[in-house]
Amino acid sequence: MSIIFHKETGQFHLYNDQISYVMGILPNQEMGQLYYGKRVHDKEDFSYLVEYSFRPLVVGTPGKEDFSLEMTRQEYPSFGTTDLRNPAFEITYENGSHVSHFQYVSHEIYQGKKPLEGLPATYVEDDGQAESLDILLRDELTKVELCLSYTIWRDYPVITRSVRFFNAGQEKIVLRKAMSLSLDLPDHQYDWMQFSGAWGRERTPIVKELSCGITAIESQRGHSSANQNPFIICKRKKTDEFQGEAIGLSFVYSGNFLAQAEVDTYGALRLLMGIHPRNFAWTLQNGESFQTPEVVMAWTDKGLNDLSQTYHRLYRKNLTRGMWKEKERPILLNNWEATLMDFTEESILKIAAKGKEAGVELFVLDDGWFGERNDDHRGLGDWKVNLLKLPEGIGGLGRKINAMGLKFGLWFEPEMVNEDSDMYRQHPDWILNVPGRERSLGRHQMVLDFSKEEVVDNLYQQMHEVLVDAPIAYVKWDMNRTISECFSIGKAPEEQGRVYHKYILGVYSLYERLKKDFPEILFESCASGGARFDAGMLYYAPQAWCSDDTDAIERLKIQYGSSYGYPISSIGSHVSAVPNQQTGRSVSIDTRANVAYFGTFGYELDLNHISDEEFEEVKKQIEFMKQYRGLIQSGRFYRLSSPFDSNICSWMVVSEDQSEAIVGYYPIMAEVNGGSHRLYLTGLMEDAQYTIGKNTYWGDELMHIGLVTSDHVDEAFCPNGDFNSRIYVLKSVQNA
Ligand code: GLA
Repeated sequence: MSIIFHKETGQFHLYNDQISYVMGILPNQEMGQLYYGKRVHDKEDFSYLVEYSFRPLVVGTPGKEDFSLEMTRQEYPSFGTTDLRNPAFEITYENGSHVSHFQYVSHEIYQGKKPLEGLPATYVEDDGQAESLDILLRDELTKVELCLSYTIWRDYPVITRSVRFFNAGQEKIVLRKAMSLSLDLPDHQYDWMQFSGAWGRERTPIVKELSCGITAIESQRGHSSANQNPFIICKRKKTDEFQGEAIGLSFVYSGNFLAQAEVDTYGALRLLMGIHPRNFAWTLQNGESFQTPEVVMAWTDKGLNDLSQTYHRLYRKNLTRGMWKEKERPILLNNWEATLMDFTEESILKIAAKGKEAGVELFVLDDGWFGERNDDHRGLGDWKVNLLKLPEGIGGLGRKINAMGLKFGLWFEPEMVNEDSDMYRQHPDWILNVPGRERSLGRHQMVLDFSKEEVVDNLYQQMHEVLVDAPIAYVKWDMNRTISECFSIGKAPEEQGRVYHKYILGVYSLYERLKKDFPEILFESCASGGARFDAGMLYYAPQAWCSDDTDAIERLKIQYGSSYGYPISSIGSHVSAVPNQQTGRSVSIDTRANVAYFGTFGYELDLNHISDEEFEEVKKQIEFMKQYRGLIQSGRFYRLSSPFDSNICSWMVVSEDQSEAIVGYYPIMAEVNGGSHRLYLTGLMEDAQYTIGKNTYWGDELMHIGLVTSDHVDEAFCPNGDFNSRIYVLKSVQNA
């Protein structure tokens, strides 16, 4: 890995074993993009990649009219001189103009990577893991400065990028758009992949052909959303899971975002990713700066599984933090679907005791333990235990759970308030709302104004009090509505364009303070399931409740889609009761567990209410997960067969040393008199022998001849007709 600066030509070459990224100072002193892709030899001069041509109706640079930014690939393009495509940023200057000209001033190359203050970001554990480059640019007329930051990673085909604006001039400026990344590519022969959905069906992969014009996804909901995920892939048309070139862009941010591809009429492609510019307006006075969040740009020429594995490893090792980052996750039992808010200490202890008997390690008390929270019309904001339900408090309950030999976890939804709460009665101006206007409700609740420090401080104090007072090992941090009427009551008009972003900074700062005070707590993020499942959250909470849809067959799709951008260790997945609360579907306890294994694993039901036979199954499932969770949560995950394309869903995880693997195989609907099926495994050692049950196979045999899976025409494998599944455990013969 290295970053080279060629002084003579003003060109930079960032490279590692797998990728090269070349850029240079253009004839007008702005920064140009020259090449991004597979590693190439270094060279002093790549200037032939800057194209010059006279074209009718294209404006050019005075004195060099054959040089137009419109025809040039750039690093961080502006709007309004010789390029009239969508820009990476927009500044309004004091005189009302919006034309900028950021020219190269200097640069700094250094080992390692600097943190981004107040923002989540990938980090190095030692300086040898990455090398960074900061390029300083200046708009001479106004003295506004721009710093483009790049980090190239030693062990990953990854470059991370962010941008910082600094107003060194005397005039006030307003930043109206500040993308974290702009990437100009010479052609658009890519398919665009986005991960879309809604509550209960998050992160469905959608593939579109890029063509002339704009393709974009966005969230303007105040959180990254269940509707669109801040992660996209541009893949070559022939790229599939196992081969081919692709570029991934993942935004390390949890608020409003825009990810956009613009194909211009000359066929060039511009990718943008950053904070959504709608209602964003950040005033910078002299001496003030604005730092954008980070984008993680990954590349592969080995297919989508390889691209995903890059994100999985990077996010596990260099984004999540603290003692839980690579630790095996506890098998938990959550009471939500079992009791909703209707529980007593006695009923909770009964559920927990049965969990302990089954082998569960952590009991989580969900919503309903605080204030007057007996239904979802009241209580949010008042984080004091309801002594009518829990007479000995959270501390008392926690200690009893601990005495059973279980860890104890607790649910919070800190960002919200109900009208019927002491907090709202005392602080009606702490919500986001435009005075005089009706405020919209979501789940009968309002959003607290986390852009205000006093609000974040109050929540910090309330949560801190609960957490010091009770033996709490886990926190589920929920967020159950989108933001509407976004306005910070009492703040000046020019402050209002900051509110969405400051809200997210407030959430991050609360997480940061609590993580610092309670480093041993495992945080799980949640937003009505997976509505804030993004790389930003993973910096604070290494796992996220993936969806409120706990139906195993639905979960095949949700977990499959989530695996494109996020590690298996981050995917909260539980076995719940049947008929399922979301779909009414009944699926065997085996299949429910066979799906939930590929995540953090736990139960979301009252184990007292299942049959004795099922309870015996549950005990075996927990034993199985305890044995294999290390492999599942830290191995290489491969998607083998997509539930979006066929009746068979399949995936597998292979240990880093390739000595063990686990395959999940899910024939969704029963087939009558079907043909034979084989599953082509991957990621194994060709020359090693693996056992599967009593049989032994060569690695190459399993990968090229395939594993026969249609040996199931026996009753044992088809007890219920539809929704079957099988887990195959592979061990190399030395390890068997
Ligand atoms: C959200 C979460 C659920 C549960 C409820 C509690 O819907 O996604 O898992 O915690 O809130 O109100």
